[in-house]
Amino acid sequence: MQKYVINGGKPLHGEIEISGAKNAAVAILPAALLVEGVCRIENVPQISDVTLILRIIEELGANVRFLNKNTVEIDSTHISGFRVPDELSRKLRASYYMIGALLGRFGHAIVSMPGGCDLGSRPIDLHIKSFEALGASVDVVSGYVHAHAPEQGLHGSTIYMDQASVGATMNTMLAAVCSEGRTSIENAAKEPHIVDLANFLNSMGADIRGAGTDVIRIRGVERLHGGTYSIIPDQIEAGTYMAAVTAAGGDVLIKNVIPKHLDCITAKLVEMGARVEEIGDAVRISRSGPLKRVNIKTMPYPGFPTDMQPQISACLCLADGTSVVNEGIWENRYRYVGEFRRMGAQIQVDGKIAVIEGVNKLMGASLRACDLRAGAAMVIAGLAAKGKTEITRIFYIERGYEDLVEKLRGVGADIRLEEDDVEEYQRDADVG
Ligand code: EPU
Repeated sequence: MQKYVINGGKPLHGEIEISGAKNAAVAILPAALLVEGVCRIENVPQISDVTLILRIIEELGANVRFLNKNTVEIDSTHISGFRVPDELSRKLRASYYMIGALLGRFGHAIVSMPGGCDLGSRPIDLHIKSFEALGASVDVVSGYVHAHAPEQGLHGSTIYMDQASVGATMNTMLAAVCSEGRTSIENAAKEPHIVDLANFLNSMGADIRGAGTDVIRIRGVERLHGGTYSIIPDQIEAGTYMAAVTAAGGDVLIKNVIPKHLDCITAKLVEMGARVEEIGDAVRISRSGPLKRVNIKTMPYPGFPTDMQPQISACLCLADGTSVVNEGIWENRYRYVGEFRRMGAQIQVDGKIAVIEGVNKLMGASLRACDLRAGAAMVIAGLAAKGKTEITRIFYIERGYEDLVEKLRGVGADIRLEEDDVEEYQRDADVG
């Protein structure tokens, strides 16, 4: 096990290249199971959640081959299994996409209940409701979801999402894409990765319209064919580095982004005093003046993303005045607050609301990452703080950030990896 050691207080200057989107990749790679043929998928981020998904896909009998660091070929022609064992499934949340993909391909899926970062209760009732609407019978037995299509296969249906769930929307698309007839998903989630999954499936022969709006319409097709697809850049990774520049100061060109996807993040960083300029498929961000207070409420896309809440809160710890953060998606996304307080931050939390009283400076401290985005926020706080910060349990951060240390060192950050005590953390690594 390793830890990050950061000597903070240095502004960032240079360029950072953004990797492929984690939350698109973890759905698109399972979607390749629906294809009887070879899918070449480019811009795949090298992160531990992707490694785990690919291991599951391989265990099911698919042929997985990397052509280079970020391009993978998946041949699912000969997959035979439809059972995903506990030891892999519970290591990440996105293993729930195996249910939709296997149900869509075979009409059967037996998948251990997913794991993932602890952000409070993370039910999958909406996923199950959608599979049932498509005709599947679904039971949870001894921690495994058993989903089976009727003999004549899944059929199209109109599905109303009680909540615009990212995972349930994408899982329904996976199950419905090769079903008989038409499916309509109403109150669908609209995140960029939903559109990316639809584009991937359409490029393999699916007929999906309306992704990115409230209503997604799917006309079932008999089969999907192989092809080549490139995953979109990671909105949250880009936002995280933009927040790092906002907190630590400096001037950085963030390359390989879709600026439109960043609008909801850019708006807040500009309100806080950053300057953001769009240059083709890059954004240049700088901050030299004082940080201003802002209020934030996290919402489904195109609102401010919950996956950026901890990172922007790290910036707000150093802003002039009092900011109010309202977490609108997850019930337990303030677990980083105790760690920030060790650095001198002043934050009060009451349920979904955090009140952050800006301080003049943060002081380096020993911190423990407690989930993926909280860990990223600790890196930002460490970069902005005076003195040395150590962050342990970085396996959380490695779930979603490719080459974080190299990218930050490339813009002048003083951050390095050091060896840490292995045994103490191993158990946590296994429950994600
Ligand atoms: N919900 C239900 N029932 C369900 C599904 C969701 O009540 O069956 C509720 C959740 O409890 C939550 C809300 O609906 O309050 C939204 O959950 P959603 O299903 O949209 O989240 P998810 O699919 O589990 C994905 C991302 C998360 C991200 C959320 C929201 C993946 C693998 N995970 O989770 O990403 O926070 O959407 O945008 O795509 C991260 O990357 O750090 C991360 C946690």
